Amino acid sequence: MNAPIAPAVPNMEHHWLPFTNNRLFWQEPQIFAKAEGVRYWTPEGREILDGASGLFCCAAGHARPEIADAVHKQLMTLDYTPHFQRAAPVSFEFAERLAGILPEGIDRVFFGNSGSEAVDSAVKICLAYHRAKGQSQRTRFVSRNWAYHGVNMGGTSLAGMVNNRRDFGAVTFDAVHMRHTWAEEQKFSRGQPETGADRADDLEEMCKLYGGETIAAVFIEPIAGSIGTIVPPKGYLEKIRAICDKYGILLVFDEVITGFGRTGSAFASQEFAVKPDVITMAKALTNGVIPMSAVAVKREIQAAVIDAAQGDRPELFHGYTYSAHPVACAAGIAALNIYRDEGLFERAKALSPQFLDMVFGLRNLPQVVDLRGYGMLAGIQLKPGATPGAKGSLVQRLLFDAGLHIKATGDAIIFAPALVTPEDDMARMGDVLQKVLGRADL
Ligand SMILES: Cc1ncc(COP(=O)(O)O)c(C=O)c1O
Repeated sequence: MNAPIAPAVPNMEHHWLPFTNNRLFWQEPQIFAKAEGVRYWTPEGREILDGASGLFCCAAGHARPEIADAVHKQLMTLDYTPHFQRAAPVSFEFAERLAGILPEGIDRVFFGNSGSEAVDSAVKICLAYHRAKGQSQRTRFVSRNWAYHGVNMGGTSLAGMVNNRRDFGAVTFDAVHMRHTWAEEQKFSRGQPETGADRADDLEEMCKLYGGETIAAVFIEPIAGSIGTIVPPKGYLEKIRAICDKYGILLVFDEVITGFGRTGSAFASQEFAVKPDVITMAKALTNGVIPMSAVAVKREIQAAVIDAAQGDRPELFHGYTYSAHPVACAAGIAALNIYRDEGLFERAKALSPQFLDMVFGLRNLPQVVDLRGYGMLAGIQLKPGATPGAKGSLVQRLLFDAGLHIKATGDAIIFAPALVTPEDDMARMGDVLQKVLGRADL
């Protein structure tokens, strides 16, 4: 135990925490006061290993001086510029750098501030594209059960998790949902499951039911992250791509979690060798340190929207005060430099076997009913408790007490260490999981 860093319990009256049971939190606060590398520290100075890269953002670990320096320098050079009819050199540089790691041809970049904003922006760009191509009847969107695409209006409409939709029907648009790809027979599959590609046929059925020519886009998380890591069956993404091509539907990969090396390639699109038309990204875009997101689109999408516009009005009536914020761009460039200079995407690929060995070594523990994983992302399905989500909530608190930060979602926990995690720290994370998930009394 180190010296205290901050008051153990701050005044918690005023900050309403998102996606949190605030009542439980007030009773048992879980507070981080400091972070460095792959560690957090509580206000009392207790060390907690970061098994979730924060919230799947801090791929290069915490407190990177290279990013801090770039942010400070940018703040003192050009702290803010609007991007409506104005621009800053740093945003063009960042977009060009991103184009260098994106799949070939998906290299026109629109910036936002969160994954949710990227998804909403992508929805509007897809509509604008079809309108520009004289296909304004394409207004329907397809997503999947168990999908998470953020919490703005687009993401809420596309959401495949009941709690994220139930109370918000009044503000959502018409999205239809295919089945998710998980099935009982895939239990304990390591990597891409052998079975389940036929679930892509749901899209064909929707094209028959609604008319493929009414569908604007299909949104897919290449690996469904927030539900607890559902890896696409072999052949599934390829089939979805083929059906989109057949009906002229845009394919959007939401790579907010899978982008920037999580799968062992820059993007899951490259890892699975399936090219969408649009990629949304956020989180590790800036190593999580400054809020930022981006939508990358194929050149012809941007060209169609720009070419169809009349006069001197903006071609796309969409954007945010903080789109392409110079400080976020500077943080992003510094993060990309680290990813490149330290070979972190390659490191993720090299570390993945050890990571997955450790995850699949949890197989016979009393609290584990399924394991899934790919690259540096894994889902551990827990034996259900008295009510849905109760076990997940309990286990994440027990792990916190035992020194490991991890994200629980329902009765699954999502394990996603930073791509810089040293092998001995990875093993320590495994020891904590063994200890807590090995308890039969929960
Ligand atoms: C696939 C996906 N899309 C969108 C989002 C939303 O991102 P944000 O929380 O930055 O709005 C998330 C967040 O986890 C996500 O996993």
